Amino acid sequence: MEPRTLAIDVATVTEAAALAAAHHMGEGDNERADQAAVTAMREVLGRLPIHGRIVIGEGGRDEAPMLYIGEEVGSADGVAVDIAVDPVEGTNLVAKGLPNSIAVLAMAERGGILHAPDIYMEKLIVPPQAAGEVDLRWPPERNLGVLAQALGRKVTDITVVILDRPRHTELIAAVRRAGARIKLISDGDTAPAISVAVSGTGVHAVMGIGGAPEGVLAAAALRCLGGELQARLWYRNDAERERARAMGISDPDRIFRTEELVRGDNLIFAATGITDGDLFRGVRLFGGGARTHSLVMTSSPREIRFVDTIHAHDIARIGVVRL
Ligand code: FBP
Repeated sequence: MEPRTLAIDVATVTEAAALAAAHHMGEGDNERADQAAVTAMREVLGRLPIHGRIVIGEGGRDEAPMLYIGEEVGSADGVAVDIAVDPVEGTNLVAKGLPNSIAVLAMAERGGILHAPDIYMEKLIVPPQAAGEVDLRWPPERNLGVLAQALGRKVTDITVVILDRPRHTELIAAVRRAGARIKLISDGDTAPAISVAVSGTGVHAVMGIGGAPEGVLAAAALRCLGGELQARLWYRNDAERERARAMGISDPDRIFRTEELVRGDNLIFAATGITDGDLFRGVRLFGGGARTHSLVMTSSPREIRFVDTIHAHDIARIGVVRL
């Protein structure tokens, strides 16, 4: 695979999904926004010169008509790749017009992306300066102390993103005791996970339990950006444990590191903002076109691109392109 040229193609896939979902912002209909993004993503993905296989997608074949796990996508005569997608990460955010929803995709050579079950995952995500220094098994206070030292700031100057859920009552209390600032979010922990590794976003860590597929997608981004994601699957019942085992995870309680979640050497990662957020501008719609803001990265060569695209459907109506 020639990652550099394919990366721009991949960016058009998340752009298409974001554009489609953005038209449904605030409609209060999660499914409609998701469906529009899935259809758009599937269509563009189908044109790529790859022999792609979905390993993280919209669900099992019986649950999802498109982008289901195991579906083959692409023109089939290209390079064999595994693909993880989330056409709308944060469907509630789009339905309510709230910040930080994104369309996201990761691609690697076959076997390069963990086939994570669609269950919960406990995550600890830190920036490059603290990679290798923290440990998911430690209490949050200790990890925050280490993080503060690595960043050369006080714990009180650290902001941690946590999903606002009853399961996090203890975690939130511990982070407050440590003195760190908290951003409680209603949905969508992937955009904050990527933001951790980008200075200037004001996000220094993500802690707590969210979706496992989202964890794998975030790990792909961190493999390109640096930073660390430590994770452990979190089961609500024995059936979920069994599902993980059936997907080849022999030790259900093991701790995964970033490179164990995504171990490919040839990664391509793309994400496009749907609604405005800490990292991305959301889709802007105007007469004659739209504008998207994306992050497109390859692991080898290590290239990190912020892509600002004007989709000019009618250049005459746009008139002059704005900076
Ligand atoms: P959607 O699947 O509706 O886009 O929700 C995504 C998400 O908010 C993730 O970002 C997060 O990891 C997970 O759901 C949290 O799950 P729950 O809402 O069940 O706590």
